[in-house]
Amino acid sequence: MCGIVGALSKGPVAELLVDALKRLEYRGYDSAGVATLENGRLERRRAQGKLRNLEELLKSEPLLGNTGIGHTRWATHGKPSEINAHPHMTDDVSVVHNGIIENFHELKAELLAEGAPFTSDTDTEVIAHLVTRELRAGKDPVTAVFHILNRLQGAFALAMIFQGYENLMIVARQGSPLAVGYGDGEMFVGSDAIALAPFTDKIAYLEDGDWAVLTREGVAIRDRMGAGVERPVSQSQTGGLVVDKGNYRHFMAKEIHEQPEVVGHTLAHYLDLANSQVNLPALPVDFAQVSRLSLSACGTAFYACLVAKYWFERWAKLPVDIDIASEFRYRETAMQPGGVALFVSQSGETADTLASLRYCRQQNQQVLSIVNVQESSIARESNAVLPTLCGPEIGVASTKAFTCQLTVLACLAIAAGKARGVIGPEREAELVKALVEVPRHMAAILNDEHAYEALVHSLSKARDVLYLGRGSSFPIALEGALKLKEISYIHAEGYAAGELKHGPIALIDEEVPVIVIAPRDELFDKTASNMQEVAARDGKIILVSDADPAATGCAIQTALSVPSVHPFVTPLIYAVPVQLIAYHTAAFMGTDVDQPRNLAKSVTVE
Ligand code: AGP
Repeated sequence: MCGIVGALSKGPVAELLVDALKRLEYRGYDSAGVATLENGRLERRRAQGKLRNLEELLKSEPLLGNTGIGHTRWATHGKPSEINAHPHMTDDVSVVHNGIIENFHELKAELLAEGAPFTSDTDTEVIAHLVTRELRAGKDPVTAVFHILNRLQGAFALAMIFQGYENLMIVARQGSPLAVGYGDGEMFVGSDAIALAPFTDKIAYLEDGDWAVLTREGVAIRDRMGAGVERPVSQSQTGGLVVDKGNYRHFMAKEIHEQPEVVGHTLAHYLDLANSQVNLPALPVDFAQVSRLSLSACGTAFYACLVAKYWFERWAKLPVDIDIASEFRYRETAMQPGGVALFVSQSGETADTLASLRYCRQQNQQVLSIVNVQESSIARESNAVLPTLCGPEIGVASTKAFTCQLTVLACLAIAAGKARGVIGPEREAELVKALVEVPRHMAAILNDEHAYEALVHSLSKARDVLYLGRGSSFPIALEGALKLKEISYIHAEGYAAGELKHGPIALIDEEVPVIVIAPRDELFDKTASNMQEVAARDGKIILVSDADPAATGCAIQTALSVPSVHPFVTPLIYAVPVQLIAYHTAAFMGTDVDQPRNLAKSVTVE
């Protein structure tokens, strides 16, 4: 994830900004930069690599000025380099950005056609040129920014300063977090409260769609329509913490809301967004030569593998063997020499997964792993590692790690399909486009979060809850059931909807909520008939779908609407509703959401 800081200070800001960026190093980065206003003129210093390189540069070429912005970049569009490091600027405006501008292709083409002098490969630079075009058309900075915000599509956070405006900073939040810090005659912005801790503990978090005009006297926060809004100012408890809950009640809530940002960040690491292609690091595997792929993991990570089985087999025509690691490690299955085994683990320390990996090494398999902790045991013992880049996941119930695991697996499945000659350029561009839109759709669901709070009263009283899904929604039904039971302690089961008549239908009565994961896809009608069977037995259906509930042909107690998306990415999108259902039910019940009873974040013993 990239990191953003900004300050309208009483004294020089350059070194303050670098100190604040150091507190964002946990987010990972490959370059950094700051820009300030020196006597009204925009000046910038950028350096590839660690912040000490930027500090050295500032020692030799100091930046003056009491107004500034800073950024740590993890390469998205354009390789890690000084020229692609933020801030990006023209003579009129300097901007730092965290997230993805989905429609930057057409914006850049439009600006290039007018002669805009681009210098980088980044999507961010289009923002600088769009604002500049408005400023040179005579608009003031506030009007200029409001005008261009509506042209940007994607999930992002921005901070901008302007030539000649010492007492002005404009920021915006759409899918990626941004906090405003209140000082005494000073104002600050940062990606989170941690960055702002050196300046202030009085924090207001912008909501999605908010943009804000800061001066040293205060801040005017506006919504996406330009109307003034108020956001609560709280006292941050960050102190020396490297990770904090921000203004969320639980880490799990914060991590659910981080998903548009961290999925976007992970996507950018595995995709060439400029050319709508996958762009994986070199792997010791030629998928064209692989006859079968073995997947193994535990818990939520296993459900990510189960989704991936659908993806590899449908889109790459690659047969997949899959098993939970605690069973796989003792089956002593025969494995074809030179086969490929892929392990997925947030912690990278899960004992059963590690033991299964070691078995595969003994069977001379090429071992790949998808982990969130890159220095973990599983990572160290793999032939190649594909990181999930979602930052520290503190809540025991895995959320952002799960969707980032899905993100990596989706990119890997496309790469495998390309290598096996079953995915051509057009199909690749189609699937990559669907992935690039995921952060925005996740943000839309999160903006509709109040719809989930209404469910908790009935769900919290349930004895048993049934989750149903078909195809790649079946693993999401399993994941939804796991989420609910592990944090609310309500018994829940996930089932393939087609299995209903083979037993589980005996459970159905008016006391059993049935949560149905049903995108409007080729399987929807079959799932609708399952819903009719449930309704005929007085089952209470909670439908999670982009379809009109009337299309089910039966009574729906609650319909949770989801954006219509490409079938390829429905597991990523539908993961968020099942997380929200579990979270709000458990939060309402008052269980220990972040540290549920009997559970550990990493199961390092059998
Ligand atoms: C998920 O919410 C659970 N906390 C648990 O099932 C977890 O996914 C499982 O223990 C695997 O952990 P890992 O990803 O660190 O290997």
